[in-house]
Amino acid sequence: MIAESVTNAREQEGDPTFPTSASVGKTKTDWLSDFCAERYQLRAILCDEVSSAGAVDLSAKIGAVRLRNPILAASGTFGYGLEFAHLVDLNRLGGFVTKGLSREPIEGAPAPRLFPTPSGMLNAIGLQNVGVRAFVAEKLPVLRKFDTAVIANVFGCTLEDYVEVIRVLEDAEGLAGYELNISCPNVKRGGMQFGSDPSAVAEVVSAARKAAKRPLWVKLSPLVTDIGLIARAAEEAGADALTVANTYPAMAIDFRTGKSRLGNKTGGLSGPAIKPITLRLVWEARKAVKTPILGLGGIETVEDVLDYLAIGASAVQVGTASFADPRASEGLVEALTNVLFDSKAFTLNEIRDKFLTENG
Ligand SMILES: Cc1cc2nc3c(=O)[nH]c(=O)nc-3n(C[C@H](O)[C@H](O)[C@H](O)COP(=O)(O)O)c2cc1C
Repeated sequence: MIAESVTNAREQEGDPTFPTSASVGKTKTDWLSDFCAERYQLRAILCDEVSSAGAVDLSAKIGAVRLRNPILAASGTFGYGLEFAHLVDLNRLGGFVTKGLSREPIEGAPAPRLFPTPSGMLNAIGLQNVGVRAFVAEKLPVLRKFDTAVIANVFGCTLEDYVEVIRVLEDAEGLAGYELNISCPNVKRGGMQFGSDPSAVAEVVSAARKAAKRPLWVKLSPLVTDIGLIARAAEEAGADALTVANTYPAMAIDFRTGKSRLGNKTGGLSGPAIKPITLRLVWEARKAVKTPILGLGGIETVEDVLDYLAIGASAVQVGTASFADPRASEGLVEALTNVLFDSKAFTLNEIRDKFLTENG
């Protein structure tokens, strides 16, 4: 088809290099050079047709969850998705993770809740959310209209809380899976984070696994001495994927007033400042488990995305960057497509293989 239309167009335009009926009488050498020129140009046209940026395969598989591309918006930084729908084409994202959902609604921490720091941000939102039932009744029916993977982020203070939130979500349609936030204080163990202790991780993930038919991702806490140990505990208890990682406990004060910059006194550090630390956590976790990993921490640019993918993440999430630019994740999808196209890599595996060859 393409060859035919090229032939017709060039015959009509009287292309001098093209062997038409008008070129009868040319020498054998002329014919040969005409033929080569034609083949060369046709190949260029054909290559151009096939090798458009649209031909780059960005799809990613996280266990049973198939994503259009490996870029998701992260929990707590993208609301319930709906708040961003007038600014972002949700259908272009790999997906997004909802605000953390609890058994009952939570009002959250006192103001101020955010404070900017060099290359990052502190937050102490206090896990404010509408509660799982209101999410199912009011948000999910609207979210079902979008063709994107919606992952529900789930948290609690006890095992029973986690199980109950999942039980309510299991009865609802429109979710691709769950992400367990295990960076929460376990009230039955004196407030120690679930995610800091392998046995508590195993307990909460097993309980959630039994309750969930959908894919179960576990979001690890960075507040650990050996992320490999924690990653293995989550994998063995039935996690289908690991999100690495949550924010880093931190604080900022004003020495003039003697007050903390946050109403909650301490908060979580996020943004570019944490990227090198989290990148190492992804690297350590990847060596410890076979379960797919989603890299999350400080992603702003397409180079950040590729660093995480190269080191072994199957997909990434974008958090704080959405505060500066609500379209950050959508922009990264486009940038990733263009970078792969420009570097003549047609799948993400080609980028990954390069890093693995160098570093094992
Ligand atoms: C304002 C804010 C609220 C967050 N809320 C949640 C939450 O509800 N559940 C959760 O698992 N992580 C939450 N996070 C953590 C992010 O999902 C992400 O792990 C973290 O910000 C690191 O990524 P980033 O550097 O790209 O922001 C929140 C982060 C921020 C900045």
